[in-house]
Amino acid sequence: MSFTGLWDTLLPIGRDYSTGGYRRFAWTAEDEQCRAWFTHSAAERNLRTHCDRNGNLWAWWDSPEAPDGAAAVVTGSHLDSVPDGGAFDGPLGVVSAFASIDLLRERGFTPARPVAVAVFREEEGARFGVACLGSRLLTGAITPDAARALRDVNGISLAEAMATAGHDPDGIGHDEDLLASIGAYVELHIEQGRALADLDATVGIAEGIWPHGRWRLDFTGRADHAGTAALADRHDPMLPYAAAALAARQAAAANGTLATFGKVIAEPGAANAICSTVTAWLDARGSQETALRATVDEVLAAAQRAAGLNGVTVAVRPESITPPVTFDVGLRERVAASLSARGITAPVLPTGAGHDAGVLSAWLPAAMLFVRNPSGISHAPAEHADMADCAAGVEALAAVLHDLASR
Ligand code: GLV
Ligand code: MN
Ligand code: MN
Repeated sequence: MSFTGLWDTLLPIGRDYSTGGYRRFAWTAEDEQCRAWFTHSAAERNLRTHCDRNGNLWAWWDSPEAPDGAAAVVTGSHLDSVPDGGAFDGPLGVVSAFASIDLLRERGFTPARPVAVAVFREEEGARFGVACLGSRLLTGAITPDAARALRDVNGISLAEAMATAGHDPDGIGHDEDLLASIGAYVELHIEQGRALADLDATVGIAEGIWPHGRWRLDFTGRADHAGTAALADRHDPMLPYAAAALAARQAAAANGTLATFGKVIAEPGAANAICSTVTAWLDARGSQETALRATVDEVLAAAQRAAGLNGVTVAVRPESITPPVTFDVGLRERVAASLSARGITAPVLPTGAGHDAGVLSAWLPAAMLFVRNPSGISHAPAEHADMADCAAGVEALAAVLHDLASR
């Protein structure tokens, strides 16, 4: 099937038609629909599917020509989204994986090692706060106990969400056997930035991922009447939050990093009352760990200072920390050689966006392909890649899978 034929079958799932964005959160009904789509698409291709202990999905192209124990070549991405996310972040890699397999088969290719398509669960961390949760569990980068105890904004734990979806939360954790069966992971992803457009290139190769993380700040003050509480009597948690948000912008500019408050919950949330608590999440990223650390320290210091001045307390908890990643140079060079042998010029780019490939790279050779995104916008409904570029991405991924899975 063509890329667009398959792409169109996934598009309606989890879409909010009022915004045009996607709300596909892990372990929800929309996630289950995405997973049913995956299983169905795999079955249409005679790929053997299985859900691993951590809730990640796999579709295997078993090859009669693969010797027993041959290490697999794995591609794929994720199907979950941020709130009102775009259509491409994650799904592009999964649809391209199936379309590449279709292309290789049409061309009569038989792999000399197993090829698999993987879908990692809760990559965005939109529901339980920890990005790349499925691949972190698989690799042991988070302990099962810590993961089971994570809670969404409604207080539902990961363990409860798994159990509700019919998945055994007691079985989660490091899966050495599955990891040992993988020789290489290559994830295709929409570019989250405009570098390829500026370079007039369709496809790029990832160099590495900036260190990044999320910090949860809980400001606790005292609720009161907005129309009667004197300014001097207030313990308003909104004020230190506002100071922290301004400090984030200043610290990022001063340190050459990025720092963002994109999620804020004010409780109880009355327009005519001072709130009792504000919970806000700082997302910070930078090419250098020292600059990232300085940024976070400056924001947290500003939050503490403003909390003290306003009679508010602030508790800080790191939620999701990801160290810098440099992708395996040998695999990156093989990917580049596969592309250049087909006349594809692919610039090598760093990225500030996190990916399961980054988590897996601590365990096995991993690489990433990026597909041009003309506006660079991502994590928003305007995220876009032209269908012709997606088709070029499928060609590039097929070339890489062909070469990595050849004898
Ligand atoms: C995932 O897309 C992230 O970078 O937060
Ligand atoms: Mn994303
Ligand atoms: Mn992604």
